[in-house]
Amino acid sequence: MEQDKMEKIVNLCKRRGFIYPGSEIYGGLSNSFDFGPLGVELKNNLKQLWWKKFVQERDDVIGLESTVMMHPKIWEASGHLQNFIDPLVECKSCHQRFRADLIQEKCPNCGKKEFTEKKDFNTMFKTFLGPVEDEAAIVYLRPETAQGMFVDFPLLLQTMRLKLPFGVAQIGRSFRNEITTGNFIFRIREFDIAELEYFVKPGQDEKAFDDWLKFMEKVLVENFGLDKKNLRCYEHPKKSLAHYSKRTVDIQYRYPWGWDELWGLANRTDYDLRQHEKFSGRDLKYYEAPTPSGGRSPDRSAGKFWPYVIEPTGGIERLFLAVMNEAYTEIQGGRTITTQSTKDVEIVLKLRKVLSPVKVAVLPLAKKEALIKLAKEIHQELKKDWMVQYDEIGSIGRRYRRQDEIGTPYCLTVDFESLEDKKVTVRDRDTMKQERIDIKELVNYLKANFEE
Ligand code: GAP
Repeated sequence: MEQDKMEKIVNLCKRRGFIYPGSEIYGGLSNSFDFGPLGVELKNNLKQLWWKKFVQERDDVIGLESTVMMHPKIWEASGHLQNFIDPLVECKSCHQRFRADLIQEKCPNCGKKEFTEKKDFNTMFKTFLGPVEDEAAIVYLRPETAQGMFVDFPLLLQTMRLKLPFGVAQIGRSFRNEITTGNFIFRIREFDIAELEYFVKPGQDEKAFDDWLKFMEKVLVENFGLDKKNLRCYEHPKKSLAHYSKRTVDIQYRYPWGWDELWGLANRTDYDLRQHEKFSGRDLKYYEAPTPSGGRSPDRSAGKFWPYVIEPTGGIERLFLAVMNEAYTEIQGGRTITTQSTKDVEIVLKLRKVLSPVKVAVLPLAKKEALIKLAKEIHQELKKDWMVQYDEIGSIGRRYRRQDEIGTPYCLTVDFESLEDKKVTVRDRDTMKQERIDIKELVNYLKANFEE
């Protein structure tokens, strides 16, 4: 039943232009996906909302955009060259390769049980900078955005007048040459990470960790609309912590196939700043001593240390999947259904309004010139504020269904009365209630409703 829901979500995503298989006309490229017109809107809304909650509304976080390809020494210093490794095994029978920790004792491809010994496989993608393909030109595509925040630490301190505690946030493309991909967009090879490095005084790290964990859970429930019952925390045992971590907690989500990681929170200690200081030779400490005038002391020996780092991190594609799973609803005769039924089933995507790819649809009731003209005028006006669709094709019922499927919160119908009373019928996606609203009041009406 739940796997069935996964299939339904995948189908909806393809059918309605949220997510397409990548390189499809060439037979596809192993588990790669393109975000279609609606997918890109939803994804942008997820990123914007993350930024609003983690950067814009806070007093202690600033933003950054660093490069995907960085100096190769960075990955030596960060430990990724030695430690960003997955255990690889090959089936002796069909020669398929798998991540050893993600398979049971049988080969998922041919069912045989004999594998080669585990081998370390570094999942960073390598490429060459410039026209010469030699050792000296090797660079890596970043597997996380975090290193940008660490290597820019002194520039941020110099230019932004920062005082601990403070955070630096970034959303960006990250690349991992995963041995085993799967579950649609859950494990892919290029994805967007929304990440924040929160620098604190050593000793204040454990409290900051707890505060961020609460904050992340709150945002997932209140802002992204995930059901608390579908979230739980997984504390990583000490022996399986990443090389840089003192403590890691995954926030897991109950996907259609079961519990799995959504976001993570790590205490990276001062590991990264120390390592970059060692490898770059640059002083990456924070100088604390205040002067009588309130600035930083010119006496650089007083109160210097490497801050500890608490790192809330989350994949945008995994959030996309969780949000779609949460919003996907089937109704029959106007009521939500939970049983498997095929007859007259309608899909409603109950996304939070702030996330909906299309906010409003404008629908002339009939293909009559006067109605079309007025509907198009309203469409032009509302487009200044939101993504708005104009649709005149098919019966009004079918047009409502089409908008429900993509999660459009409001449909505005322009009918013959509209020409007289200058009002339109506004239909609410979730309650299906209809209200007559003055055309002049539409923008205010919608603004008030979107602010809820
Ligand atoms: N800087 C810390 C870090 O990169 P991570 O847990 O390895 O931590 C961060 O990755 C987030 O990126 C995860 O919580 C997950 O949401 C997402 N993520 C990781 N690998 C992914 C993949 N192959 N496909 C999609 N998302 C992935």
